[in-house]
Amino acid sequence: MALEIVVIVISYLLGSISFSVLLARLLKGIDIRQYGSGNAGATNTLRVLGTGPAILVLVLDVLKGIVAVWLGVWAAGWGSGVAAACGIAAIIGHNWPLYFHFKGGKGIATTIGVMATLAFFPALYAGIIAILSIVITRYVSLGSLLYVALTPVFLLITGFTYPVLWTSLVIAVFAFWRHRTNIIKIAQRRENKIGSKPKGGK
Ligand code: G3P
Repeated sequence: MALEIVVIVISYLLGSISFSVLLARLLKGIDIRQYGSGNAGATNTLRVLGTGPAILVLVLDVLKGIVAVWLGVWAAGWGSGVAAACGIAAIIGHNWPLYFHFKGGKGIATTIGVMATLAFFPALYAGIIAILSIVITRYVSLGSLLYVALTPVFLLITGFTYPVLWTSLVIAVFAFWRHRTNIIKIAQRRENKIGSKPKGGK
């Protein structure tokens, strides 16, 4: 039991490494949370720092989710719920990072890493639809929300149950909560489109 708790805590600490904050500090000496949407994530890195840094942040944030799940698998195997709990802990760390005053991102890249490791094909199907929606609407936030909403649907269709299905539902609640401002902006047609200049405000 002690090992399981240790890997869950390590996953939270791993998730707390906010790569967008670190990279913005390193490259421009700024706090990315004061710019663009104010979010510490890959989309805002694209706005504030450009394509290369955004891709790097995306890859590293996805990796946090993958590594966290594998830590859980190493400690307790598949199916015990520990791998899923490690994934959730990494997302909590990303959203509310210990090292950065608990002000982090919205958890989507880390969620992609977690869900792709726990259930590759359902995550892939949801990802394809999410990417299509981003290409069509240019709203990354809408694609993110579609991704977390559709993952449980594809999990159900492909026969996944506890703990992966429950994990995806918890993750969806986190994601919708973190995107609440985006949801209001989409409804008001004030949401920033990818490739456009930020409309201001957080
Ligand atoms: O994953 C974050 C994305 O869905 C929205 O980011 O910066 O546009 O609020 P942002």
